[in-house]
Amino acid sequence: MNGTWEFRLDQGEWTTIPVPSHWVLEGHGKPAYTNVRYPFAIDPPHPPDENPIGDYRLTFDAADAFLDGAVLRFDGIESAAEIRLNGQLLGTTRGSRLTHEFAADLRATGNVLEVRVAQFSDASYLEDQDMWWLPGIFRDVDLVATPAGGLRDVFAVADFDPGARTGTVTIRTSAPARLRIPELGVDRDVHDSVVPVGTVDPWSAETPRLYAATVSTDVEEISLRLGFRRVEVRDSVLTLNGNPIQFRGVNRHEHHPERGRVVSLADARAELELMKRHHVNAVRTSHYPPAPGFLDLTDELGFYVILECDLETHGFVEVGWRGNPSDDPAWQGAYLDRMQRTVHRDKNHASVVIWSLGNESGTGTNLEAMAAWTRAFDPSRLIHYEHDWASTYVDLYSRMYASHEEVKQIGEEVLTPPPFDATPAELHRRALPFIQCEYAHAMGNGPGGLEEYQDLFDRYPRLAGGFIWEWVEHGLAVTTDGRREIRYGGDFGEDVHDGNFVTDGLVSADREVRPGLTALAHWYAPVRIEVTGSTIRIRNRYDHRDLGHVTFRWRTESADGVLDVPPAAPGRTVEVPLPPRASGPLVTVEAVADDEHVLGSGQLTRFAPTARPAPTTLPDRAAFDPASMRLRTLGGLALDGPMVSLWRAPTDNDRYPGWDEPDLPPYAERWTEAGIDRLRTRLVSADEVDGALRTVHRSAPPGRDFAVDSEFRWHQVSPDALLLDVVVTPRGPWPVEWARLGLDLVVPGAPAGLDWSGLGPGPAYPDLAAGVRYGSWHAEAAELSTPYVRPQESGARRGVRSAVVTTSAGQLRVTVVGEDEIAVTVSPWSRALIASTLHHHELVADGRTYVSLDLAQSGVGTAACGPGVLQRYRLPARLARVSLLLEASAV
Ligand code: GAL
Repeated sequence: MNGTWEFRLDQGEWTTIPVPSHWVLEGHGKPAYTNVRYPFAIDPPHPPDENPIGDYRLTFDAADAFLDGAVLRFDGIESAAEIRLNGQLLGTTRGSRLTHEFAADLRATGNVLEVRVAQFSDASYLEDQDMWWLPGIFRDVDLVATPAGGLRDVFAVADFDPGARTGTVTIRTSAPARLRIPELGVDRDVHDSVVPVGTVDPWSAETPRLYAATVSTDVEEISLRLGFRRVEVRDSVLTLNGNPIQFRGVNRHEHHPERGRVVSLADARAELELMKRHHVNAVRTSHYPPAPGFLDLTDELGFYVILECDLETHGFVEVGWRGNPSDDPAWQGAYLDRMQRTVHRDKNHASVVIWSLGNESGTGTNLEAMAAWTRAFDPSRLIHYEHDWASTYVDLYSRMYASHEEVKQIGEEVLTPPPFDATPAELHRRALPFIQCEYAHAMGNGPGGLEEYQDLFDRYPRLAGGFIWEWVEHGLAVTTDGRREIRYGGDFGEDVHDGNFVTDGLVSADREVRPGLTALAHWYAPVRIEVTGSTIRIRNRYDHRDLGHVTFRWRTESADGVLDVPPAAPGRTVEVPLPPRASGPLVTVEAVADDEHVLGSGQLTRFAPTARPAPTTLPDRAAFDPASMRLRTLGGLALDGPMVSLWRAPTDNDRYPGWDEPDLPPYAERWTEAGIDRLRTRLVSADEVDGALRTVHRSAPPGRDFAVDSEFRWHQVSPDALLLDVVVTPRGPWPVEWARLGLDLVVPGAPAGLDWSGLGPGPAYPDLAAGVRYGSWHAEAAELSTPYVRPQESGARRGVRSAVVTTSAGQLRVTVVGEDEIAVTVSPWSRALIASTLHHHELVADGRTYVSLDLAQSGVGTAACGPGVLQRYRLPARLARVSLLLEASAV
């Protein structure tokens, strides 16, 4: 029934609208974003008077097949609707992301379907997810013929017995029917039956084996795809088909930059394929059931799904959970209805291994009632709910954003006997596997700390992995004057909103891969490779497959080959010798699947120190500014710098207090408070020593007496080349950790590209340095920074031993002398501009190139929601040295 419908808003003029769509994205009203807060008063069950009402109308004829009985199915209407057919009320809907069906008595021609949709309703109190408020008929509308003698319902559970390696189909049908599974030779009558099917290949996310089945009566045939699998908790370990499993998951909202929560199946498939490329094996459908076709894809492509009910009452936290519907009997029917709709729609999907009651709805008996109904109806799956940490009625202990330290304790908790006075509830919780249903908040430049979480998940059997928050940024695209801009909360005139907190994701709203996803892919990869001086260690991180399908290739600059690797069983590590021909400074080993998908890689580096060039003469003082002694020209290029710099344009994570330091201001504030964003520099001395021009500069924040002194020793190497020895020394008690310790230069001309030897091809930060590898790389100007929706520090290339910055005016070449490596950031914008600009499209370049050569950097952490930068990645004031060869040429 999708297509163009008649539409009017608030009883205005009739016009037309596409179905599915959100009317606020079709020119009627505006979208609005809130995270926790309701945008209306907490006055349940009443919606506000300011409540946009959309009227939809469709006139249609019905083919014969529909005249014998039909059902009108709505897969998503936000938030409540009255459905009328030919003037008669068929019923109402509550549950925006749930399916609603109505028996429809149709005539052959001129049927009039009227749907009145309220943006807000009593149900809005149960739908306070952190996302845009987007009203409308936003999912498919179907008309389904339901002939007499057909099937209204089928529930089939395909179980796998890991011991016998056999399958059983337990099936309930609404009427006696015939079950056929041709591949297994099954062809028999069923109604409420248990059908042993003999030996089967099990389904898992790694081996998504499906068997086609049909369930039929004389008049109707239903197609199913059965995946035989058994999900179980064994001694606080989550298992599938008898093997422990680990979720390498993401939280997925449905989002499209132009269409909101209208996501086509093709888009969903592309998303899942992108996840697969990045080794994601699990999806939590945060925080509602997705459009139904999504589960066909997860069955087929292989993903473990935590299917979450459409429920969140988080806004009640603002009033101390007073009146929370979760514990109010008046709402119990609504809670149960939501869960039943959730389970019924998706109960036949192999990929759904866990039902989740909802998100952040406090605690209460209605949640318990949902769990009890679900357990009785479908004992084949586990039950999840995070917000009740007592975990009495769930099968998993689940938390979000728990710190590394706490996750470690949870992993260790089950390794020691429980306390003698542990309550039964406590004993129950201790018997449960643990997941982080949300962790590593991927907002802006980040998330840091992935490696440490993964290490814990790999170390403690109780820890069954987790789900990154979140997959996709919810930026909304608006095209003004032909220019497409990505907007966030507050950009649509909302008076209550939560700003850019809606744009957090491993991919942008346009599904561009953010650096966080590249790093994550490394930690989620199914093959881990470590190359040491003499051996290659290969770890199979699959839970169900051996590595027989993987080819291992090695290469150096001058040779390559294939390794002979014994097929390691799941969870096993094998070692093979490094081939003698794999010599030289850089050896790369890759695990590659048939389709060239890289499943893991490792490198061995044996770089020789870069020789120190011999100085010739003293540099010409005329190349330096006489007052500041900053270098002004080299090789005909009018440079400015280098000057010590300690600040970065705050990342989203820098703007929030970390959960580990709730009483301290965010780093961004600490830095401006200390003044490192606007250092003042004074020339202390300029003289000649040991054949070098020595300049000493003191850089200090205004109004502060702590400083860094930088001593530069300049040696001329050739007319266009200077060797620079740098020593940076902090002075005084530094009250704040630094963002970076860098040398900044401004180079004339707009950036045109960067070539470097170091880690690439993408950017990296100390705690986000995976998924990059050593090599020689080139980046175009546009690839030098990450277009985060809200501008922030980005783009640093790490592990750099030499680099060439090309601008429209010339080239600056930097070679690190000795063994050191630096990080290089090249940007068309100054940090001050980046920090003060609210949207990416508002950044205006000034035609110069800002180059930073960083001796050290702070990590990025995940303070936007979760722990901040781990101690080992922080950057307290410290002494540093580096020697650089600078060469330049003008065009
Ligand atoms: C969680 C919540 C998510 C999202 C996230 C922060 O508390 O479940 O929906 O709000 O925080 O981005």
